[in-house]
Amino acid sequence: MRKRGKFIVFEGIDGSGKSTLVRHLKEQMTAEGIPFYDTCEPTNSPIGSIIRNVLNRRIQMDEKTIAALFLADRLDHIQNEANGMLKFLDQGIHVISDRYYFSSYAYHSTHMPMDWVINCNALCAELLRPDLNLFINISVETSLGRLQKNRTFHDIFETKERITSVRNNYLEAIERLKDQEQISIIDGERSPDAVFADVWTEVSNVLGIKSKV
Ligand code: ADP
Ligand code: TYD
Repeated sequence: MRKRGKFIVFEGIDGSGKSTLVRHLKEQMTAEGIPFYDTCEPTNSPIGSIIRNVLNRRIQMDEKTIAALFLADRLDHIQNEANGMLKFLDQGIHVISDRYYFSSYAYHSTHMPMDWVINCNALCAELLRPDLNLFINISVETSLGRLQKNRTFHDIFETKERITSVRNNYLEAIERLKDQEQISIIDGERSPDAVFADVWTEVSNVLGIKSKV
């Protein structure tokens, strides 16, 4: 019987370096000849495109409905018969996702109780629990510094509150779920190569391969 693929998730506040690390991980896995499927949330599905319209304020919706949309997007991301993550994992292909349910715990608990958000996602946790959640940890100041380039002062002032609360929610969710979830906290304040070296140590361990960057 074919071995199931591993499910690896990157989490973190905006600007934590997730996209950069996913790119680096894809290069490393390609170089090692390891098959993988890379994906993200919100997805590129029709539900994901509604979410993007909400995020860029073209569509207005209440916060519970937005959280429910992310949940619907995630259920489809897991189970879609054409390109759902379970399909790849069952074929022995590893899946790398930029964000998964910890993003919901962090971003939606700014408006709803975290218990509500965790309960909403219980089915996702039942269907597909990550083999590894990599939380890329940076400070709010680092996040703002990296995002600053294309924002106005007013935007930054507003965003600081939000990023602070999202970061605190991530840390709270990690603490609450540490016995049920495989979580690795990576110090994202260092050089991209140093951060990636730690990511690769964790990933190669989960994949059961011996290789150094
Ligand atoms: P995310 O996907 O988590 O929002 P990105 O990978 O897009 O983060 O990174 C946000 C910005 O910070 C980009 O300009 C990127 O080049 C830069 N960056 C990423 N990782 C680091 C790092 N370790 N040190 C300094 N800058 C970084
Ligand atoms: P995007 O710009 O695609 O991602 P990133 O910040 O990683 O570059 O935007 C995704 C946004 O959606 C981000 O602000 C986090 C948010 N989000 C939620 O609010 N809930 C969720 O469940 C997920 C997966 C993301």
